[in-house]
Amino acid sequence: MDKKELIRRALKAKKNAYVPYSGFHVGAAILTEDNEVYDGCNIEIASYSPTICAERTAIFKAVSEGHLKVKAIAIVGDANHTYPCGVCRQVIREFGKDATVIIANSEEDYREYDLDELLPHSFGPEDLKSADKEEKNV
Ligand code: THU
Repeated sequence: MDKKELIRRALKAKKNAYVPYSGFHVGAAILTEDNEVYDGCNIEIASYSPTICAERTAIFKAVSEGHLKVKAIAIVGDANHTYPCGVCRQVIREFGKDATVIIANSEEDYREYDLDELLPHSFGPEDLKSADKEEKNV
């Protein structure tokens, strides 16, 4: 699975964006550690807050199918290079601490980052595990 293929899948998913309120379409595709691809789009809800971003749709689809490790994620949106929101950065962090994040306009026009560049000094599952339980008196 190459980067261009992941971007193609994100572009395809973007077509399904359900965005009656913002009109802003986003698609995402993730590559899991076992080389499966899951894609997703943003889905908006009339009461707004249940709205979900494309990145989280794709990741939650993978996790609910038992694929818990994200190696790479491609994101495409209506903005010129659509970057993931803060909430999605944290969700990527949960399942892909070392993930490559591809911010694409097209198969030819994309930028690549390590998740750590987009969410430096992050908090994650390891921090909870390393907490000193005795000190916390539990
Ligand atoms: N959106 C995403 O799908 N991903 C992002 O990272 C940024 C924002 C969606 C949410 C909402 O449906 C629309 O874009 C406008 O915010």
